[in-house]
Formats: sequence, structure tokens, C-alpha cells
Amino acid sequence: MLSAETLREALSTSRFIEKVIYLPSTTSTNRVAREAADQGAGEGTLIIAGHQTAGRGRLGRTWWSPPGKDLLFSLILRPSLSATRTFRLLVVCSLAVADAIRQETGLEASIKWPNDILIKGRKIAGILSEMGLAGERLKHVIVGMGINVNSDPSGHPEIGDTATSLRRELGKKHPRLPLLTVILELIARYYQRLGEGDFRSLKQSWDARSAITGRHVRAASMGCITEGLAESIDDDGLLTLLDTAGGRRQIVSADVSLLVL
Ligand code: BTN
Repeated sequence: MLSAETLREALSTSRFIEKVIYLPSTTSTNRVAREAADQGAGEGTLIIAGHQTAGRGRLGRTWWSPPGKDLLFSLILRPSLSATRTFRLLVVCSLAVADAIRQETGLEASIKWPNDILIKGRKIAGILSEMGLAGERLKHVIVGMGINVNSDPSGHPEIGDTATSLRRELGKKHPRLPLLTVILELIARYYQRLGEGDFRSLKQSWDARSAITGRHVRAASMGCITEGLAESIDDDGLLTLLDTAGGRRQIVSADVSLLVL
């Protein structure tokens, strides 16, 4: 069971998590975190919910999760990064989630640019990062993570075919607290590496976990479709595709799907 007490106890030795706010039910942890950050909450503040009534995904989508089943949390970060480099935080967090799932369950979790974690091609987790700016200066970044642990998306009319959960993959329930602890430990470790200027090794690890690097993909963005061989991400997180004419195209934001040729 997740509760304020179990969370505080489990995370008490973390030097990264400064404060834990557990909300049995809230609108969206990203929203609560943004309000807290605007009121001065520090780096390492964790907002975690048992249920969200207005969970948000990328591109204004809704994040589905039934009460008390999954991991739904947001972290406040105050990195020394320019606003154009905040994708690096998605690299940190997606790598941490994929590695933690592998470590805790043995399942082969991979990363689909820009923010999805997959198991056997189905989405198990998503990350939503939102910036707070003062002019051009980055004040804070909220990274919100939704991980399908014990929910069963298989019967859901919209995501039944494309989403999965640890329970669906393992065939049994999985405890949330140890997984959360490992995810936060890995975020702390990779975030420190980023702060030390070592984005290169994080990018190498990200490439090794990427579900699309070296594969033919279709990137769809606002009605515009680009197809090509996915190379890697650049320093700002843009995805490079080698198109059929041999040209390199940089993709800023898109929904990416694998092409079966
Ligand atoms: C996506 O895949 O589109 C991103 C989904 C992010 C969902 C998480 S759940 C916790 C946090 N609070 C939200 O409202 N969204 C993120």
C-alpha cells in the first residue's frame, strides 16, 4: 500500500528527495507540482497520488489510470540548463524508468522517443515534462511519470491494444513501492551525471535502450508524415531520420510508430 508513512519511510534515506507530498486523490500531480514550484518548493520535491481525476499526457491527451493501482508522480527539478536543453531530463527519466523496470522485474523495457517506455511494443509508462520560465530563464521543470503497474489496460476501449502493465506482462500483481524507490535512485544517479556534464554516456545508454534507433519509423506531427530510418537524438533531443531520398530530417515533436517493411 502507498501511504504518506510508507513513502516517507522508504524514501527517508534518499539524499535527492527533499520532500514527499502524498495525495490519495488529486487532479494531476503535474498541476500540483507546478503550483508548488511557483510557490518556491525546492528541487527534489515529490508529489505522488493514489488517483488522478484529470491526469494529463502529452499533446493535451488524458492519462488513464484506475484508483490505487499504478505509479503516478511528479518531481520538481531546478536544473542549470537552458530551456532548449530540457529534453535531457527526459533522457534521464526515461532511462531511469526503463532500467528500473528491467532491474525489478527482468522485463525488457525499451524507450520510444520522445517519452514512452514500452514492453514488447506496448506502452507501459509515459513521461510529461513541463517547464516554468521567467523570460528565457528556466525556473523549474516538472517531470511527471505514469507507470502502469497493477492496472489492466487490456479491456480499455482506446488503449487496450497499445498499452500494457507490469501485471499484464508478469501475470501477477507487482509491489509499487520498491519500483518507485529504484526509479528515484536511478533518476538521482543519472541527474547527477547530467549535472557533471556527462550527457554523452547517458545518450549512449539511451541509444542502447531505444526501441527505434536503427529501425524504420513513421513520425506524424500535425498532419505531416515523415518516414525514414531513425538515427539518434541530437544534443537538444531532436530525432534525426534518414529519409528515403538519403536526406537527414530533424523531428522536433511527433508520434512515432515502427514501420514493418
Ligand atoms: C504521455 O505519455 O503522454 C505522458 C503521460 C504522463 C502521465 C503522468 S501521471 C503523473 C503525472 N501527472 C499527470 O497529469 N501526468 C503525469
